[in-house]
Amino acid sequence: MDVGGTWIKGALIDVASGIPAGTVRRLQTPAGGSVDAVADAVDRLITELEAGSPGAAGRPVGIAIPSIVQHGVARSAANMDAGWIGRDVQSYLQSRLGRPVCVVNDADAAGLAEARYGAGSARKGVVLVLTLGTGIGSALIVDGRLVPNFELGHLEIGGFKAESRTSAVARENEGLDWVEYAGRLQRYLAHVEFLFSPDLIIIGGGISVCSHEYLPRLSLRTPVIPAKLENLAGVVGAALQATAAGKEIIQNT
Ligand code: BGC
Repeated sequence: MDVGGTWIKGALIDVASGIPAGTVRRLQTPAGGSVDAVADAVDRLITELEAGSPGAAGRPVGIAIPSIVQHGVARSAANMDAGWIGRDVQSYLQSRLGRPVCVVNDADAAGLAEARYGAGSARKGVVLVLTLGTGIGSALIVDGRLVPNFELGHLEIGGFKAESRTSAVARENEGLDWVEYAGRLQRYLAHVEFLFSPDLIIIGGGISVCSHEYLPRLSLRTPVIPAKLENLAGVVGAALQATAAGKEIIQNT
């Protein structure tokens, strides 16, 4: 499951291949985004998915949310109700849904999926996945292993929180053309590169399909490539994290 500000998406995922086993379903995120309302919607989606695949009953569920998630406890809430903050949402959802549940930050989920099945597969070293959407999500993966809750969208650059100036939504809101946007991205990525010296940067989020517009305009020493899994990365990564295999070092074969 991938809980976003507008949609909650869900699918049964074959974690061996990272491919949905059947239809991807979605429901509108309940207005306000309270924990209880989101839990009800996730429960409905699970019922719909299981109706088409009875063998899936009782299987673990991974849930990606736009929050810092430390040992199951939400520590922030981007575009969600503040009631998520400080709550052990993993334990709550586990008892509410009656099955093993793993709650993970949405960018961490997307990053894990890209590192395992997508643009970063077979890459060792320090891989940084940045999702450019309403905000900026980030995931740091070192030799296939996630360092959870990197919040690089919140770096301050030129007196502004980076995501307020450099997210895909900031580009739309300010009506920036691709040259202007590439300039913003260059400044942000150069700073990130200086701080963390990654071996590879992967750009995800809806804007990754337009990467030909801005990637050629960047000048960095780190290779920057578009994500491959597009808007399914969060769902796939949440499923991966929910399996025992997802908690092990990801072996890129
Ligand atoms: C949040 C992150 C989240 C990202 C993408 C940011 O505003 O702080 O936790 O991963 O948005 O949803």
